[in-house]
Order: sequence, then C-alpha cells, then structure tokens
Amino acid sequence: MNELMLLSIEKSVAGRGSNVIPAPETAAYALPDAFRRKDAPVLPQLAETDVDRHYTALAQRTYGVNCGFYPLGSCTMKYNPAVNEAAAKLPGFTGAHPLAPAHAVQGCHAVMDELAAALCEIAGMDAFTLQPAAGAQGEFFGMLCVKKYHEARGESHRVKMLVPDSAHGTNPASAAIAGFTVVSVPSRADGLVDTQALQALLDDTVAGMMMTNPNTLGLFEKDILAISRMVHKAGGLMYYDGANLNAILGQARPGDMGFDVTHFNLHKTFSTPHGGGGPGSGPVGVKQSLVPYLPTVASLGQPEGLQLKAFSGNFAVLVRALAYLKTLGKESLGDVAAHAVLNANYLMKRLTDAGFTPAIAAPCMHEFVLTLASLKESHGVSALDVAKTLIDYGIHPPTMYFPLIVHEALMFEPTETETRETLDHVADVMIRVLAQAKQNPDAMHTAPHHAVIGRPDDVKAARTPVLHW
Ligand SMILES: Cc1ncc(COP(=O)(O)O)c(C=O)c1O
Repeated sequence: MNELMLLSIEKSVAGRGSNVIPAPETAAYALPDAFRRKDAPVLPQLAETDVDRHYTALAQRTYGVNCGFYPLGSCTMKYNPAVNEAAAKLPGFTGAHPLAPAHAVQGCHAVMDELAAALCEIAGMDAFTLQPAAGAQGEFFGMLCVKKYHEARGESHRVKMLVPDSAHGTNPASAAIAGFTVVSVPSRADGLVDTQALQALLDDTVAGMMMTNPNTLGLFEKDILAISRMVHKAGGLMYYDGANLNAILGQARPGDMGFDVTHFNLHKTFSTPHGGGGPGSGPVGVKQSLVPYLPTVASLGQPEGLQLKAFSGNFAVLVRALAYLKTLGKESLGDVAAHAVLNANYLMKRLTDAGFTPAIAAPCMHEFVLTLASLKESHGVSALDVAKTLIDYGIHPPTMYFPLIVHEALMFEPTETETRETLDHVADVMIRVLAQAKQNPDAMHTAPHHAVIGRPDDVKAARTPVLHW
C-alpha cells in the first residue's frame, strides 16, 4: 500500500485489453482529412481487472470526510448527506440541456427559484445570483457590483477597499482584480477589528469593507453593527464573505448585521464537498440597491448583461443545496450552527486543558486557532511537524499557517457532523503528539512515516507541477 504506484500507462502491455465496446454497425463518419489524427493515440493497454484495481487503489489512497476526521479550518469539511447526491443525480436534472427552452425545464427553474428565495431568507438579502462557481468568483463579482454602484452615483473616486488583516487571501485578491486599492485594517490584541484604526481610515475615497463574521480566528466580530454604521456613514458598502456561514446558519443573518452584498460557499455549508471534490458554487446575494447590477443568464432569455459563468452556474451543486435545506427544514437549520460551535469549543477546551495554546483565549465560534510558537521555541517542533505527524494517526491535518497574523498557526474546524467520541479520539491523539514533541522532537521533523508521500517540496510542487506523463 505504501510503495509508489505505477501510472496506468507504465503498466501497459502492447496488445492487452478488453473488447467491451462493440464495433459500430453504421459506416464511420468520414471526417475531413484536416481533422484526422496522423498517429494513433498513446493509451494504456490493460486487462479490465487491472484497470479496476488501478482505480480502486487510487481511491483507497484518497483521504476524504468519509475516511476520517478532516478538521481543515475555514473549509467546513462536514459530512454531505448521500441523499442530496441522489437528488442531484435524478435523470431529469442530469439530462437537462442548458439551452433547452424554459417550458421544457420547469423543474430546473423551480429548483433555482426556490433556492434563491431560501438563500435570500437565510442571508437577509433581497436577491441572489446563482452563477458564480466559487467563493472567490463570488467575491470578485460582489466587488464589481460595489464598483458599479459607486459609478452610477458619480462616485468613481471611491477606490479604497478595506480588508481586515485576518482576512482570507482571496478577499484582497478579489478587490485588487476588480480595480480597488486594498487597505489593510489591523486587528486588536483580542483578534477583532480595531475600530479606532478603522475610523482613521474612513474618508470619501472608501468604496467598502470586506469582512467575514466570525472572522478567520473563529471569533464573532461583536462590533459588527458599529462597524457597518461607520462604513455606511463614510459612503461605503459592506461585503460579507460567507465562507464561515456554518457558524451562524439559521441563527444570525449578514443582512441584519449591515452587510449589503454577500457570497455563500455552497460547497462548504450546503452539502457539496469542498476541496478537490468537483465544481463548487458561490452564489451572491445583494440588497435592493445593488439588484440592477446582478448578472444575467442569456439562456434564460434575460437581456444582455454581465455574464460570469456559462448558463446558470454549477447546477448539480444547486440541487444538493436545496435538497439539504429541505431535509433540514427551517426549524432545524439553526442546529447546524449550534452543534458546529459546540463541537469547536469542546475540542478547543480539551486541547487547551492538555497544554496547547489557543491564539486567542476566548470562546470560539465554529473553529479555533492554536499557536505552536512556544513549542517551536522550546522543542523545535513546528505547526508543520505536528500537522504531518497527525497523518500517521489517520487524521487529516488542520489548516496550517493561517490566518497569517498568528505564528505557527493550526486552525481546527471540527464541524457539526462529528461525534463526541471522534472529538475525544482527536484530543487524545493530540495529547500523544504533544508528549512525542517533548520526548522525541527529531522524529517529528520527518513525519509522516506511514504515508505514501512524506514531505514533498511544497514550493516546487506548486510552482512546477508535473501533471502529465
Ligand atoms: C474565509 C474564506 N473566504 C473565501 C474563500 C474562497 O472560497 P473558494 O475556495 O470557494 O474560492 C475561502 C476558501 O476556503 C475562505 O476560507
């Protein structure tokens, strides 16, 4: 299991294969010469059994939420009920053509309309577009809305987008790509936005402020109403990064906190796997004043306008989200957040009692951040060493080195779908890892020792990936 696998092409044996596809009964279509390939394609030639074993082995080496604990902070790696997958696979949905006339795909339209209405209610917004394919694309589109809004009011001089220093990297990136000048707002020692520093940055060049609440330290921004009022008073708009919605789902609404525009990551909160699991969806909701700037969907017969994504977005993700909402029901939606917050606080308390140091010693929302700075100093064991050691215990590492304002950060998001037994097991493993760090720190520098891949050169892998044979 642990040795490196050969690629299917490397296992190929000339002439071997299975003739499962019958020869066509009709004459082959005579492709024009210009479109004909000159050489036969290089494809692996393998027995059917070997193909089956090859892909099964790959699947066994893939770690997912259905394999074990996956506390990747800021990613909401929770269990996605299989029934929602079944709904997305209904032939009426998978067989629908995006150019089909509206009368032929009324069911698809009903899904989108109903989902958009539900998201409006959850967000406290007036309208939603379901087009964006990811949170980052939602952010980018939201920024364009803010820009159009100011332009239409003759206020193109509003070029500054305020972003807390705890923000996810996509926030400043989206604002910059939309043409704004990003200005960082410092956090106070308690991890929340420094409202005094914010006040000093507010002037008539401010276009808006992007925030996530709870913030990336897992802390609820208690001053959010005052912050919104301050930004609005200066003429700016408030953008809500909904990546952390799991913490407040059914309990609080961005619209009520003073936000004017928001995206939600359906591939986190609403039953689609996040991270390498296929297409995502980052619908954007807006208050009435921004409705004119929503993108249009040409295939729905809407007038020419901004289009972010072909057709109506990643439709199967929308179906899963609606199915998820319907199975939970309005009454139970708030339980998601309640249990997510309870689980995070339980695990944080157990780890804190065991000697780990939280970045901020205060109750958390759905996730929390540890700092391993003192362990690094005393025993030379880094957050990376601890994360890699967890792999040997069959646990996916938490998010590392984020948010950037915390030294040696490990960010845990246990999610609401984990049981107390799992949380206790993880706490026990972390306690063993801490003891190991103090007794035998050197062994941790080379962990994991029982995984297929040990310590790849992350920078080389990111900068010069080898993605082909
Ligand atoms: C706080 C936060 N904001 C924004 C994003 C961007 O979302 P996406 O990965 O869907 O582009 C993420 C991603 O994980 C995030 O954690």
